[in-house]
Amino acid sequence: MRPSMKAIGHYKYLPIDDPESLVDVQIDAPKPEGRDLLVEVKAVSVNPVDTKRRAAGPKPGELKILGYDAAGVVKAAGPAAMLFKPGDAVYYAGSNQRPGTNSELHLVDERVVGHKPEKLSFAEAAALPLTTITAWEGLFERLGISKTGGHEGRRLLILGGAGGVGSIAIQLAKKLARLRVTASASRPESIAWVSKLGADATVDHSKPLPEQLGGEADYVLICTNTDPLFPALPKITAPQGRICSIVRTLKPVDLAPLQEKSLTFAWEGMFTRSTFQTPDMQGQHELLEAAARHFDAGTLVTTFRENLGRICAANLRVAHRRIEQGHTIGKLVLEGF
Ligand SMILES: NC(=O)c1ccc[n+]([C@@H]2O[C@H](COP(=O)([O-])OP(=O)(O)OC[C@H]3O[C@@H](n4cnc5c(N)ncnc54)[C@H](OP(=O)(O)O)[C@@H]3O)[C@@H](O)[C@H]2O)c1
Repeated sequence: MRPSMKAIGHYKYLPIDDPESLVDVQIDAPKPEGRDLLVEVKAVSVNPVDTKRRAAGPKPGELKILGYDAAGVVKAAGPAAMLFKPGDAVYYAGSNQRPGTNSELHLVDERVVGHKPEKLSFAEAAALPLTTITAWEGLFERLGISKTGGHEGRRLLILGGAGGVGSIAIQLAKKLARLRVTASASRPESIAWVSKLGADATVDHSKPLPEQLGGEADYVLICTNTDPLFPALPKITAPQGRICSIVRTLKPVDLAPLQEKSLTFAWEGMFTRSTFQTPDMQGQHELLEAAARHFDAGTLVTTFRENLGRICAANLRVAHRRIEQGHTIGKLVLEGF
């Protein structure tokens, strides 16, 4: 008989205040094949992708297990795994094509896993992978910003500065790329948070942006709904500037107004590499390793903000409700089963 494990999932979409919207279950533990690692999950964090995928609902009869951030310990490795061994502490986001991290034991392809930063606790590390991958790929790969200061002094505007992605993007842009960073935040607590993380200036995203900026940005990173921002982009971006959004538009957009200034628009999707098994999929392992060295050196700090208790359906429902309200600062984490 296969060993069983605790997990949290749902059989159909229900509003988060319904106790059945996420439920505790006991299921068979998985077994690693190929390059998979079997990870004993110690802590997870919750992202907007969890609430969006919960809203999309499971297929008929499916138990959908969410969770796209974990820190834990490798229990076993598939026969083709070569980057990790049992006993290694790891942190990763995984793939949205497979069951998520809200389970005691979890399978993940080692090519998207990093060694946990040694100086961070499991909870502090679980806060980081999904947002670090997104911000790193967005800034250094899609926007082409040098991560060693080659574009020092250029201006970056981050829209949605205090959220999970913004909180790590501010640090990558300041500490590694040495840009001048303006971050958007709309409340005293979120303004204080982005300033503490290193933003040079703040703007309020609840008010019109061009008037507040005092100059065009060379780079814009959109970490919030893109649709309402699109008309302002040609005004707030400098000639030959670059824009990256991580939030898919709901309506078609007109790219023509970006032509006069020769602006570049790029999408970032942190699941692209794992979904399409791209030849450079292991780039996510490498960037998590590089980021871990910066966390251990203290160049970057964790964006962990609140521990909501153990990993169970009731506490995950609290986390989902908070994410759905749209004003969390940094990251919410759950720890232990
Ligand atoms: N493409 C990808 O690979 C990818 C990866 C990660 C995330 N995402 C998406 O990116 C978005 C942000 O993710 P996240 O994890 O950073 O979210 P989050 O942590 O839930 O973001 C919360 C923050 O959003 C800010 N905010 C609320 N309304 C805003 C507005 N109108 N304009 C700008 N900021 C606003 C809030 O700041 P105030 O409280 O100050 O208003 C709050 O601090 C989500 O839609 C998520 O699904 C995409």
